[in-house]
Amino acid sequence: MRIRKIHLIHYRNYRLLRCELGKTINIFYGENAQGKTNLLEAIHYLSYGKSFRKVKDRDLIAFDQPESYIGLELERGNGHHLLEAKLVKEGTKKVRIDRMAVDRIKELNELLYVIAFIPEDLRLVKGSPKDRREFIDRELSKLKPVYANKLQQYERVLKQRNLLLKMVAYDPEKEKILSVYTAQLIDLGSQIIKTRQVFLAQWEGYAKDLHGKISDHKEELDMVYESGVQGETLDEIRQDFEKQLKVMKDEERTKGTSLIGPHRDDILFLINGKDARIYASQGQQRTVALSVKLAEIHLVEEIFHEKPVLLLDDVLSELDAKRRQFLIETFRSFQTIITTADNTVMESIQHLNPTIFYIQEGRVNREDSV
Ligand SMILES: Nc1ncnc2c1ncn2[C@@H]1O[C@H](COP(=O)(O)OP(=O)(O)OP(=O)(O)O)[C@@H](O)[C@H]1O
Ligand SMILES: [Mg+2]
Repeated sequence: MRIRKIHLIHYRNYRLLRCELGKTINIFYGENAQGKTNLLEAIHYLSYGKSFRKVKDRDLIAFDQPESYIGLELERGNGHHLLEAKLVKEGTKKVRIDRMAVDRIKELNELLYVIAFIPEDLRLVKGSPKDRREFIDRELSKLKPVYANKLQQYERVLKQRNLLLKMVAYDPEKEKILSVYTAQLIDLGSQIIKTRQVFLAQWEGYAKDLHGKISDHKEELDMVYESGVQGETLDEIRQDFEKQLKVMKDEERTKGTSLIGPHRDDILFLINGKDARIYASQGQQRTVALSVKLAEIHLVEEIFHEKPVLLLDDVLSELDAKRRQFLIETFRSFQTIITTADNTVMESIQHLNPTIFYIQEGRVNREDSV
């Protein structure tokens, strides 16, 4: 798939933008606060129906305007498509595909699949367990909508169960209803753990291979799903979950919260068998994060049989020459949109004949040479 044109009206700091993208590598170059991330964010919006920053739709509308528009012309197989979103400060947004209203946001993603690389991704290894859980949940939800659904149900059950755990201390009548929620927690939680385990194993295969290449085969990466619940099969997981909850019974009631389940799990990254969180250098941690993120490209190709569009927000400037070059080589066979404020990044991509744009205060000019 390939994005041909972008059209923005009153999107963040853009008044009006019409831009035709190159087929392979596109660079948007500009100083800080000119609209580079905003542009990638707009493209991301038409793939997932939301920003990659944790913001509300109304934040995407230019400060002084009531609404904004994002349009993308897409080429896919032999077909052309027009994806559009109209965001409004009051009322509900409208999303259209080929001028027909769409109510399932997922339909956007079925046509346009983007993978965004943002600087925060490079901090995956040293982030908190919550960051890593959010990462795996986000990736899995994109690839498997059924998972997103299960996760939502689990979170609802978890919230209710935590509430009940706080109440049973002075209202023993609540034990009965609590046991219903416990059963649901075990059922949904086990499925989530199992899906994460399977997915992580698949993911690890690709990440291991990439990590080996980036580190000149000096390092071996392992990704381990770290869970309070043990077991290989779904049944084993269920049984252990139930057992663990029985052990935790009193503690859960004292603390008034659910102490076991996928909401407490983590992903462990090992380099040559050692925990990367504790022993890896900053550079090694970044290599791990990069390999993990790059693996997504291959997962997507395997699942969708399509090449995703890659968005790189200022990521290259955080990498040394060798890792940067590795990344750039990977990107040459994809349509990639890179933003940077760094001249050396431009120089390292120059040999691939990128299409270059200069961004200033929400205006974009195509440049033939730098
Ligand atoms: N809703 C909005 N309306 C108008 N302007 C906005 C809105 N939201 C953000 N901006 C402005 O957009 C500008 C550009 O933001 P953006 O994050 O795209 O910059 P950038 O070019 O990526 O900069 P950096 O290199 O620092 O990452 C900011 O100065 C911000 O104030
Ligand atoms: Mg930016």
